[in-house]
Amino acid sequence: MSDETAGIGTQDTGKVQRPAWPRRFLNAIDERLGIDALAYPVPEHANSLAWSLGGVTATAFGILVLSGILLVQFYSPTPETANQSVRAIATDVWGGDVLRGVHFWAAQAMYVTAALHLIRVFVTGSFKRPREGNWLIGVVLFGLSTLALFTGTVLKWDQEGFEALGHNVEVGDLLGGAGFWFSAEFANQVSILVRLYGAHTVILPGVLLVLMIWHGLLVKRHRISPHPSLPADSSGEQAAQEEPSEPFTHHLRRVGAFGLVLFGIVGILAVLLPPPIGATPVAGIELTRPPWNFWWLYTLEDWFGLPAILFAEVALFTILAAVPFVDRSRNRWWRHRPIPIAVAAVLLTAIVTLTVLIFFIPIKAHLGA
Ligand code: HEM
Repeated sequence: MSDETAGIGTQDTGKVQRPAWPRRFLNAIDERLGIDALAYPVPEHANSLAWSLGGVTATAFGILVLSGILLVQFYSPTPETANQSVRAIATDVWGGDVLRGVHFWAAQAMYVTAALHLIRVFVTGSFKRPREGNWLIGVVLFGLSTLALFTGTVLKWDQEGFEALGHNVEVGDLLGGAGFWFSAEFANQVSILVRLYGAHTVILPGVLLVLMIWHGLLVKRHRISPHPSLPADSSGEQAAQEEPSEPFTHHLRRVGAFGLVLFGIVGILAVLLPPPIGATPVAGIELTRPPWNFWWLYTLEDWFGLPAILFAEVALFTILAAVPFVDRSRNRWWRHRPIPIAVAAVLLTAIVTLTVLIFFIPIKAHLGA
């Protein structure tokens, strides 16, 4: 560390001046924890909101983990008690309704910011060499985030959660042997609700965390991709040397500020729009629609039957995983990639249209059809 960054100045007399105690304290911590190593340069364009969406997604995940740790203190994951324990969190636990709301809205925020981050990475061609592997890790992260949303919905154990589970059990049946985890026979002493609880609170967040760390380390290793409208280096894989840079610690501060705004919005929504919870479920009826993230699948299911859920999800994730293998040109600028951009626009429009169409479809039974 240079004398300047260590806060050691010299007086005109040439005598070395001792830095003030807060600086000495920070230097002592830094010497032991190596935080200064985070101050590596990052091109200026990485600081915009669009290029910080991955960091904002990570912040939403952090809010989910913290609020989730508090929620597990009061949630009881058996079919007999789950619904009542969620109601009790909202009515009997001090601040429990807001806590539940924060967890619910942070989950919506993480889904939306991860989707926007995916779109940003696609539009700016940031998945191209050498970042193809990190795109694939991102696809898995998005899939796991969707599974976390789904398992969270089931945990409420109201009609909506119960019907969501019913759909998944049937999709598991369609998968034959591969869907064994969803069958009651898999562990006949443990209800599927308890197993989904384990998946939601331990397996999914654990795998998400490990993959997020890997994802972040790869971003550091490859460095942030060049902005497609700014000059790149001769390889075309890094921002040009001339682009001004800032220490990564400044970037972290900015992501933290975006994260605080997100936390504020999540808090306001938690107070103004607490997440609903229905009554204990009744088997054999279908009265609900899934959470909005799955509406496009509901419309397809209504048209083509329950297997459409499986085929549409497999198709979506196969298309996403294929992106770096299909869009292989060195061009990053979207105007120079008309076909991939047009295909993506059609796919996105189809998902949005199918989502909106749910309002024109009457609720009806699909299970066991
Ligand atoms: C779901 C949780 C995710 C988290 C927490 C996350 C986090 C991050 C972070 C912090 C960055 C640095 C740049 C930025 O903030 O934009 C990044 C970059 C990247 N992410 Fe993600 N990401 C996630 C999902 C995804 C998805 C769904 C994809 C694509 C399918 C993806 C692909 C990439 C790629 C290729 C980069 C490098 C981009 C570049 O260098 O410009 N990530 N991610």
